[in-house]
Amino acid sequence: MNHKISNLWANLSESLFSQIDDKFIDNFRQPGGVNSRLAAWDPFDPTMRYYKLILFNAAMRWTDDAYLLYRKLGNTNVGNPVTVRSKGLDINLDYLFTINEYMFLKSNMNIQSINSIIEIGAGFGRTCHALLKLLPNLTSYTIIDLPELLNLSAGVLARVVPDHMQKVSFINATVETDWQNISADLVINIDSFQEMLPETIKQYFDNVINRSSNFYINNPIGKYLPESVGITNPNKIDIMDVFQLGYCRNVIDIFDEDQLNRARDNFVQSYIPGSEWQAIVQSPMEIVPYYHNVLYTRKS
Ligand SMILES: C[S@@+](CC[C@H](N)C(=O)[O-])C[C@H]1O[C@@H](n2cnc3c(N)ncnc32)[C@H](O)[C@@H]1O
Repeated sequence: MNHKISNLWANLSESLFSQIDDKFIDNFRQPGGVNSRLAAWDPFDPTMRYYKLILFNAAMRWTDDAYLLYRKLGNTNVGNPVTVRSKGLDINLDYLFTINEYMFLKSNMNIQSINSIIEIGAGFGRTCHALLKLLPNLTSYTIIDLPELLNLSAGVLARVVPDHMQKVSFINATVETDWQNISADLVINIDSFQEMLPETIKQYFDNVINRSSNFYINNPIGKYLPESVGITNPNKIDIMDVFQLGYCRNVIDIFDEDQLNRARDNFVQSYIPGSEWQAIVQSPMEIVPYYHNVLYTRKS
């Protein structure tokens, strides 16, 4: 009988697998090689496949509680993000992180007793959005950020929490006199101290965090080489800058568990606001384990 093969495999076998020799076998599973047609996908896949899989898997691992919280946020899709659909919700990665961060705080402090929050570096305002929706006792939320980004967070928040805007203050980080000696029940810094100069971070500790009661941080715990994640042509100026930023500037392999554990200890010590403070809880960020959540509070 004449065995029929698909056009797909007729082409693949001819174009990719017709010259099998030792040299071929030495390297055929390297990124960019032919193995993407056989077993694992190519690590350099230029599609959304991996991103959506990570997001989808993370969403499907969520407890019912997390879904309930996500539902309470209302519109999480301003800006048109990529979403996956689970339990009737369109879930995006930014707000999936937000719910995970909220649940970290909720399980480790009496979060409903928090009246005032200061967030340093709020991006488009996802954390402010969520906390205004989830904490009915919150009376004031202050964002300190660069003026360009304040325009963005103000625009997004006006759409997603229009009824809460009177609680939100926007402070221009570049006008330092506007944030001298301010305080709150909780200060938040997510994914931004590691992008600031050490002297800037110190100013925030001296003028804001050390005057407040609790400090929550979720940031990368070290630096990694661009090549280790397949960035082959990094912009040299950006990279030089990145290695000068944050308090944790050691280069680590972010896919080596032992190195991550050591870097986590260093991170927790580096960001402790002072001797009268203690880290009451810490845990790696679930999906991105080279980020670390720590909640510091004043020793009683
Ligand atoms: C990577 S984004 C993270 C945004 C947000 N926390 C999030 O996780 O979605 C870093 C943020 O830090 C802000 N930022 C950078 N330098 C700053 C500074 N010197 N003072 C305050 N915010 C700053 C940026 O404008 C941006 O909003």
